Amino acid sequence: MAQLAIEGGHPLRGEVAVAGSKNSALAILVAAGLAQEGVSVLDNVPRYTDIQDLCQILRELGAVVEWQHHSRLVVEAEHLDRWRAPYALARKLRGSTYLLGLLLARLGKAEVAFPGGCPIGSRPIDFHVRGFQDLGARVGLEHGSIFGEVSGRLKGRRLYVERASFGTTVNLMIAATLAEGTTVLENAAMEPEVVDLANFLNAMGARVRGAGTGLVRIEGVDRLHGAHHEIIPDRLEAGTYLMAGAITRGEVVVRQVIPEHLRTVLLKLEQAGATVVEDQDWVRLTMDRRPQAVDVQTLPYPGFPTDLQPQMVALLSLAEGVSVVQETVFENRFGYTHDLARLGAHIQIDRETAIVRGTDRLTGAPVEAGDIRGGAALVLAGLAAEGWTVVDRAEVIDRGYHALERKLNALGAVITRREEAAHALL
Ligand code: EPU
Repeated sequence: MAQLAIEGGHPLRGEVAVAGSKNSALAILVAAGLAQEGVSVLDNVPRYTDIQDLCQILRELGAVVEWQHHSRLVVEAEHLDRWRAPYALARKLRGSTYLLGLLLARLGKAEVAFPGGCPIGSRPIDFHVRGFQDLGARVGLEHGSIFGEVSGRLKGRRLYVERASFGTTVNLMIAATLAEGTTVLENAAMEPEVVDLANFLNAMGARVRGAGTGLVRIEGVDRLHGAHHEIIPDRLEAGTYLMAGAITRGEVVVRQVIPEHLRTVLLKLEQAGATVVEDQDWVRLTMDRRPQAVDVQTLPYPGFPTDLQPQMVALLSLAEGVSVVQETVFENRFGYTHDLARLGAHIQIDRETAIVRGTDRLTGAPVEAGDIRGGAALVLAGLAAEGWTVVDRAEVIDRGYHALERKLNALGAVITRREEAAHALL
């Protein structure tokens, strides 16, 4: 158990660099397992627990996976020959679902635990399963694991991706690279992380076209080899620091980002009253007054990302006026608002809508992180609240942010981490 104790009221000022994208790295790490020959060198890989768990799973499947320095992973998958992913590890993270695509494509057989991940909705995997079945696999669930089998190779065909699901698009892309014939994904997710995966797959010898549009075409090939790739910057981490700058009415420069990936977010921050200046790989946000209310609707990319909705709500809880925030991607992503209310936020939830009545003052309180982004939102609110906020279960936040408090402290925040539950902090 870890705790973050935050003394609020310090405007953030300075520069911060973001790490590589978690959701891109999870997909690309699994895709590296497709290489029957050669070594993959992955740069800018963030060292989160989910990534470490996935590395361990790949090792247990027969791959050699090693960190070369802080953010470089080297993967050699020639001897990946086991199709049963270790249950206890695979059930912990959502990204383990991609092992189904990898193992079906590479070995024709797979057993992977029903995945875990943040508690933000029911998060079924029916779209993935239906996709594999359409590609010719037999797939079923027994005793908490998904079993899949295919005689010969998967067979490419035209598929429709329900709700432009990110994970389904990734999984079917991974599976289709080694299929017989061509697979066309209609209504594919258009996230930058999908494009990043496609670039890596193509560097491995795959033939993927159209990634980043709603129509992705994958021509199956017989073999893939290792490749060198640098993971794109994490737009969600970047967005979180920009919002931290905004909520504390400070000035923050976020470096090593692709501003284009944050277009909708920057627009909403400007509508809320921030001044945003950007160049090729940095964004500067300045906020010198109380934010204005804005309405936000989360949508698949290029819409406003669901993974920044909680942080945005934290900001809007201090706005002048009433904001209406609609969450259309996950059905249960307002859990953290219960804890924001402890700090004095006025938020009313009606199914997929949060009505946020801005207040001019939050006051610190003990709260608990339930999921990565909800936890980050509580940290942001704590930065702006009067007095001390203590966020329990901070290890949940660590799944998506590396040393969050170190980066925020470098910007002028006052946050201390305690590794054991302490009762006398306040
Ligand atoms: N869905 C189904 N069935 C499926 C798959 C998805 O009903 O088989 C539903 C989901 O329950 C959700 C919607 O479709 O309501 C969209 O889900 P999607 O598949 O796009 O999300 P995901 O692949 O499970 C990834 C990220 C999430 C991020 C979403 C949306 C990973 C490991 N996770 O999840 O990241 O919120 O895409 O962009 O890449 C996070 O980083 O904090 C996080 C939760």
